[in-house]
Amino acid sequence: GDIDTEIDLALFGALGDLAQRKLFPALFHLEREGLLAPDTRLLGLARQELDVDAFRSRIEKALKTYVKAEELDREALARFLARLDFLPLDFTKPEGYAAIREWRQEAARPMVVYLSVAAKIYGDICRHLEASGSLDDESRVVVEKPIGYDLASSAEINDAIGAVFPESRIYRIDHYLGKETVQNLIALRFANPLFGTQWNQNHISHVEITVAEKVGIEGRWGYFDDAGQLRDMVQNHLLQLVCLIAMDPPANLDADAIRDEKVKVLKALKPFTDDMLGRDVVRGQYIAGTIDGRSVPGYLEEEGANRASHTETFVAMKTGVANWRWAGVPFYLRTGKRMPEKLSQIVIHFRQQPHYIFDPDQRELAANKLVIRLQPEEGIALEVLTKDSGLDKGMRLRRGPLHLDFSSAFPKTRIPDAYERLLLEVMKGQQYLFVRRDEVEHAWRWCDSLIAAWEDDEVPRRYPAGSWGPVASIAMITQDGRSWYEDY
Ligand code: BG6
Repeated sequence: GDIDTEIDLALFGALGDLAQRKLFPALFHLEREGLLAPDTRLLGLARQELDVDAFRSRIEKALKTYVKAEELDREALARFLARLDFLPLDFTKPEGYAAIREWRQEAARPMVVYLSVAAKIYGDICRHLEASGSLDDESRVVVEKPIGYDLASSAEINDAIGAVFPESRIYRIDHYLGKETVQNLIALRFANPLFGTQWNQNHISHVEITVAEKVGIEGRWGYFDDAGQLRDMVQNHLLQLVCLIAMDPPANLDADAIRDEKVKVLKALKPFTDDMLGRDVVRGQYIAGTIDGRSVPGYLEEEGANRASHTETFVAMKTGVANWRWAGVPFYLRTGKRMPEKLSQIVIHFRQQPHYIFDPDQRELAANKLVIRLQPEEGIALEVLTKDSGLDKGMRLRRGPLHLDFSSAFPKTRIPDAYERLLLEVMKGQQYLFVRRDEVEHAWRWCDSLIAAWEDDEVPRRYPAGSWGPVASIAMITQDGRSWYEDY
């Protein structure tokens, strides 16, 4: 173990869905890889009255569900379970917090507090932790999105956390930043001179980002219906992707060097105006349809649904970054639930040659595209044009990919889950994969301009589950003589 990573982790919401599905499995993988320091301890906190043994068996059960059987080796599991403690606690009341201080026993290692709970109680928890003397001036806090539902509410939450923790010890998670392929955007852009020189409006005609999910709302209706796809996915994940694609090269890889450049992108995003609705912005909501040959209910028919909801489960938009690098380059974004496949992909469309000499009817073909597949089947493909083979083809062009498929190119490496990377960075005290306060706030400012343009009762366009979204989202891009990328 590396002494630098030695911490005590107190996990609020330890019996919640995220903790069971993602956080404990990620911590277990770190254990298995020998990345948890010998003395690191993990404290689960939840309202339920469980004793330590009952808690350990709950976590064991979760690991058996969410970690592949061949990866769940017995010794690592035993070591891992032995680190776990549990405290029942009503998070909003100050009384129980002294028990956390006692659990710490003035340990020399820093404490990391992970808040996997609703953002509206982040402030209470931070205050009670401080008042109970459970923190010291090395303690870190990790918070999950969504932070608020607009700029004002996010500022309030950030203020409450900031009253206890300085920014340098606040780790705001956007789990997309923990994905290996998302970090690869930085390597791809700034390590490859070939792309470095081409990455601007002189050479790029437009950028496409698709984050499609097959899942529907699955028991999260209560949360999701207040949020919708814009707040749940665009405000954070898609905008982070936009930042990594559009940012200027940072001076170095320090957290603030990177985040300063990202903030500049967020500030330069084009704000929305009313006349863009329906043309440059399309909201959708799925109705019943078919996914993988199975019929699935519509959003309004899901369990616990408010049958009159106008919440969007899909959004597509044409936006842009108003600066020298990106002037005139549209960024087409779309994301939705209940689409035909799970697919996160960025396509960079390069401009055509200034003078074209091949078959006039192939003109449309003649441009390079860089396809960055974030998930699944992580990889990068550069579409290039070559001569079609065969004596009768003359100088006919053919397109084909220069293709890097990560799992076949680097077969031995397991692609770690985003949370493994993020938890490790928190343990090391490194912030570059976490979102700074001003990033969150500029992202909200931009989303707020869109939310203000949507009237509260604007009815989303319907799309059948298992389709690529409302027809209007196709028209949004075809009106510019382009189409959503389909081949890979
Ligand atoms: C979460 C959203 O942040 O990201 C979910 O709240 C969404 O609604 C999820 O399903 C998608 O993450 P991933 O890693 O599966 O692309």
